[in-house]
Amino acid sequence: MAACGSNMDRGIVISDEWCGYSVDLFTFPSHYSGDLDCVLIPHGLILDRAERLARNIMDDLGDHDIVVLCVLKGGYQFCADLVDRIKALSRNSNRTIPMRVHFIRLRSYLNDQSTEDLQIVGAEDLSFLSGKNVLIVEAIVGTGKTMKTLLQHVEAFRPKLIKVAGLLVKRVASSLACVPDYTGFEIPDRFVVGYALDYNEFFRDLDHICVISEKGKLKYKI
Ligand code: HPA
Ligand code: MG
Repeated sequence: MAACGSNMDRGIVISDEWCGYSVDLFTFPSHYSGDLDCVLIPHGLILDRAERLARNIMDDLGDHDIVVLCVLKGGYQFCADLVDRIKALSRNSNRTIPMRVHFIRLRSYLNDQSTEDLQIVGAEDLSFLSGKNVLIVEAIVGTGKTMKTLLQHVEAFRPKLIKVAGLLVKRVASSLACVPDYTGFEIPDRFVVGYALDYNEFFRDLDHICVISEKGKLKYKI
């Protein structure tokens, strides 16, 4: 089970010194011109990493039914791509796993700041998780506070097993050391957007994971 303090695979580690690729080397929606500092993780690399995480998940959970719990909104793209790859692996082996996908919504960010009140929506009655293997799919883990709250919430419904897949883990100073069981990338403490990650609901329509510019923050500030 994902736990605070456990020392799991950190995924692909992106160092603080790495300032990313110039956005001009890629294509991206022109309405975001000037709003991005750099491309931190190109879309293709995200998909390649998702494929490997799918294999790791299959190796661990491939003998049991899985209930996937997708954490909205930021997790929708990662969840869709991860589930696709689990299905493909499952098709190409003799181990087909029955999978159910359920969605819950968390909200805690305004502009680029985490707010104190974490709201869990759509997760009021998760009693169907009782006795099941649950895979929580999150786009990003920062301090780990959100993940800790969510794990406590899910644990109360007595699943057989809980695993967490996190696409990104941010190296933040005040980390609770809550790390996912499956991590895509460990990234510097910068505000990132794209691949369904937003800044006030913008940038979800960007494929690459990018660092937002100061101009972009001002443009879409509430
Ligand atoms: N980007 C978007 N959403 C987030 C981030 C981020 O860097 N950190 C926590 N939620
Ligand atoms: Mg958000």
